[in-house]
Amino acid sequence: MSRKARAVLCRELNRFVVETITVDPPKRGEVTVKMGACGVCHSDLSAANGTIALPLPLVLGHEAAGVVAEVGEGVTGFAKGDHVVFSFIYMCGKCRFCVAGRPVLCLEQGKALTTPLEGTPRVHDAAGKPLNIFSGCGTMAEYATVSAENLIRIDPKIPMECGALVGCAVTTGVGAVFNTAKIEPGSSVAVFGCGGVGLSAIQGARIAGARQIVAIDTLEAKLKMATGMGATDVLAVQQGEDIVKPLKKMTGGGPDYAFECVGSGELAGAAYRAIRRGGTAVVVGVAKPSDNTSVRSMTLVFEEKTLTGSYFGSCVPSIDFPRMLSLYQGGSLKLDELITRRYSIDEAPQAFADLQSGKNARGVIIFP
Ligand SMILES: NC(=O)c1ccc[n+]([C@@H]2O[C@H](COP(=O)([O-])OP(=O)(O)OC[C@H]3O[C@@H](n4cnc5c(N)ncnc54)[C@H](O)[C@@H]3O)[C@@H](O)[C@H]2O)c1
Ligand SMILES: [Zn+2]
Ligand SMILES: [Zn+2]
Repeated sequence: MSRKARAVLCRELNRFVVETITVDPPKRGEVTVKMGACGVCHSDLSAANGTIALPLPLVLGHEAAGVVAEVGEGVTGFAKGDHVVFSFIYMCGKCRFCVAGRPVLCLEQGKALTTPLEGTPRVHDAAGKPLNIFSGCGTMAEYATVSAENLIRIDPKIPMECGALVGCAVTTGVGAVFNTAKIEPGSSVAVFGCGGVGLSAIQGARIAGARQIVAIDTLEAKLKMATGMGATDVLAVQQGEDIVKPLKKMTGGGPDYAFECVGSGELAGAAYRAIRRGGTAVVVGVAKPSDNTSVRSMTLVFEEKTLTGSYFGSCVPSIDFPRMLSLYQGGSLKLDELITRRYSIDEAPQAFADLQSGKNARGVIIFP
């Protein structure tokens, strides 16, 4: 059946509106989910300010968990009442990257980027006009109809708001450490930016046995949160200030690994310059399309440094989501502590203002 839903939309750049939309029932291979919680990620903000260019009008939201309300024809993996976390990358399961266990590189992911796989929108505004959905999800809404491949079933004992965070920030940050960098125990690690993603990278480094974890941010409050997540040292910086020198000093010549979790070409370059010989800099933040990062080419050779990127923590959602949640259930991965404020859907514009001013570790929209 067709459902009415309050939803957060971006119709024009830099503006958030909350409207009542219509969500169509699932077609073949699709599932309708009643939302439980949706995190407010910087990538949603980036879609609304044009850093991530997606067609407008757009229903925002991708970091979410909910309960299956209806399944479409041919869906065998889910039943009404199942608890699920959304995966914001469509994975075909058949292309050479999916088959090789690297589904974040799926060749088909673009096909379910702003609609379900079938290609036509399942959401319409009050005037009946079709709406796009953020990264195959559009979960800042009371209901969402998505491709079944965008969902992972979870233990119903997991609180919705914790499940939601696993759908982006946590898997992105922890996965960058576990899967992309595969850090060695006893390493020295630096994390640039202590939002939901950076704080998760810090936790990943702690769990992986890093000896030193330096948290870097422009906001003192964020550095305090970072210490609570496992940072051993903190570095407060001003916007535009050179961090390479103090970081090298603090780490006795440079960290073994640096994770850029802000979204700046310049900081990606700083992360690369800061790492020691043989070190690895991982770019996790999504920079503006006009940003560039330059490195002195000879350092790649004589210092054997690596500069790489990490998309969605190089994860395999069906393996990594349960892995993150078992670390949470075992007490080593702090998820409740990452949530510093809860909002109703009508408070979403405030949630974005708070994200922009850096008030929260993570803000989460909770659905009744
Ligand atoms: N790679 C991926 O798959 C993936 C997934 C999710 C998010 N992201 C990206 O990761 C980035 C972080 O996301 P988030 O939701 O944690 O964002 P956030 O806004 O919650 O956190 C960013 C943090 O960076 C800090 N910061 C800003 N400028 C800084 C500077 N010059 N030096 C040091 N710190 C600075 C802010 O104070 C804030 O604490 C964004 O670019 C987002 O788009 C990437
Ligand atoms: Zn694929
Ligand atoms: Zn995200």
